[in-house]
Amino acid sequence: MVFLRISKRCTERVSMTTTDGERSLKSQPAFARYPSLEGRVAFVSGGATGLGAEFVSQLAAQGARVAFVDLDEDAGTELRASITERGDPEPFFQRVDVREVKALEQAIMQASEAFGPVTVLVNNAANDTRRKVAEIDPALWDDGIAVNVRHHFFAAKTVWPMMKAAGGGSIINLGSISAHIDLVDLPVYITAKAGIEGLTRTLARELGPDGIRVNCVIPGWIMTPRQLESWVGDAEREKILAAQCVPELLYPADVARIVLWLAADDSRLATGQTWVVDGGWQ
Ligand SMILES: NC(=O)c1ccc[n+]([C@@H]2O[C@H](COP(=O)([O-])OP(=O)(O)OC[C@H]3O[C@@H](n4cnc5c(N)ncnc54)[C@H](O)[C@@H]3O)[C@@H](O)[C@H]2O)c1
Repeated sequence: MVFLRISKRCTERVSMTTTDGERSLKSQPAFARYPSLEGRVAFVSGGATGLGAEFVSQLAAQGARVAFVDLDEDAGTELRASITERGDPEPFFQRVDVREVKALEQAIMQASEAFGPVTVLVNNAANDTRRKVAEIDPALWDDGIAVNVRHHFFAAKTVWPMMKAAGGGSIINLGSISAHIDLVDLPVYITAKAGIEGLTRTLARELGPDGIRVNCVIPGWIMTPRQLESWVGDAEREKILAAQCVPELLYPADVARIVLWLAADDSRLATGQTWVVDGGWQ
């Protein structure tokens, strides 16, 4: 009976955060609730919009204490208010530029002072602004690396001692399908995203003895507001549906569910891996 009640609650909450893609499913989907996430402290970078906002929202819906940082102060403040209003634990939000390593470290420490040790870290912030090879100079190269991979390492380094003291944790790095398919005008971003896969494997090895799991989630082409506004028109939509084995557009909620599973104890010994959610892009 308890299980049924909890499942229903989770389904209701998930339905508040789901997007158009799921409405095309023939039956009402029902998603998992993870008891181990109740009260767990999670930190998400780039959590104010896009996929990050969905991770924040769904982690909070599972009862986790969520802290997130982002450059976009208005969107972050709005998200925090909407989660609190719907009755989930109030998230911690700070405006932080993840390229500023000291500021990121400070935000993680402040979040842990407020909520307790961070035992779930989602390294999500990124910037996929398109740039031609000819226009990239060393300053743009360094900036692209700083926003797309450097902070993953320093956030992981910061949470390591608290995860170790807590007996373990889960670090989830957002990679990208772009490192595996034919795309142009993103050389720095793609280099960083490929690097995240290597970083994931080496950190899994280094931190594993302390019970810390490190995984990489590789989203396919996901229909975030930014993608829909900037990049996905009719031609792209057709390309996506032709490339995917399951011809259905992917939405942030589809990626959030694997993040929840990796954050929860259900994935207890899954580490050092890449987890692809791309509708079977070929
Ligand atoms: N959307 C996709 O199709 C897709 C595909 C593959 C991988 N990904 C990956 O998923 C993750 C999320 O992607 P998204 O599409 O939601 O991105 P997005 O651009 O929509 O959102 C990124 C978030 O990070 C924030 N951000 C950017 N620079 C920042 C900085 N310097 N400091 C702090 N915050 C900053 C932005 O304000 C934004 O809220 C990224 O790691 C991205 O590489 C996305």
